[in-house]
Amino acid sequence: MNHHSSALHPKSSQDRLGRFLASWRVDYVRRRVEPPVLDVACGDNRLAEYFADATGVDVVDYGAGAIIVEHLDSLTFPSDYFATVTVIASLNYFSQPERVLAECARVLRPKGKLLVTQTRPALAAVWHKVREPWAKVGSYSRSDILTMCDETGLRLVSSHSFMFGMNRLFVFQSRQ
Ligand SMILES: C[S@@+](CC[C@H](N)C(=O)[O-])C[C@H]1O[C@@H](n2cnc3c(N)ncnc32)[C@H](O)[C@@H]1O
Repeated sequence: MNHHSSALHPKSSQDRLGRFLASWRVDYVRRRVEPPVLDVACGDNRLAEYFADATGVDVVDYGAGAIIVEHLDSLTFPSDYFATVTVIASLNYFSQPERVLAECARVLRPKGKLLVTQTRPALAAVWHKVREPWAKVGSYSRSDILTMCDETGLRLVSSHSFMFGMNRLFVFQSRQ
């Protein structure tokens, strides 16, 4: 366990608005989850509350029972294990997002689903300046995410707008 991670990575906003938006997006994503599920950069681990077989992992300890690691791109979970992996509102914080996505692909079982959400880039550009300027980029676009997944064997099967168009969910399927 790395107790220095919160110093290295600032905590994402946990105020009233932050918690409200987190509940909204997690509630949307959870309906598409089949356990066992791994929630990568799980924050306060709220997705895990909905499933008996759920694991949250993060680099910052929010005190919610997640596994805390130094890097999200080299996890100790076995390959081909999870039916679903989620990366909710987090890709834009990672220094090497393509490496984290490759790790998600590794731990997914064949035909498993990777669910990635990102705020719409135009909105995120403003939002992150105000709320969380340490985020690496405001948000990644669909084509950015597709490029990152190029060599992972993940295939985009659908994408959905939600939260009145503010947010997008990308559903990938792992190799057969
Ligand atoms: C906006 S929060 C989203 C949390 C949760 N998935 C949710 O939807 O509520 C972004 C997450 O990215 C994590 N994070 C921040 N900086 C990071 C970094 N450099 N590398 C990996 N994860 C990071 C934070 O700890 C936080 O849990």
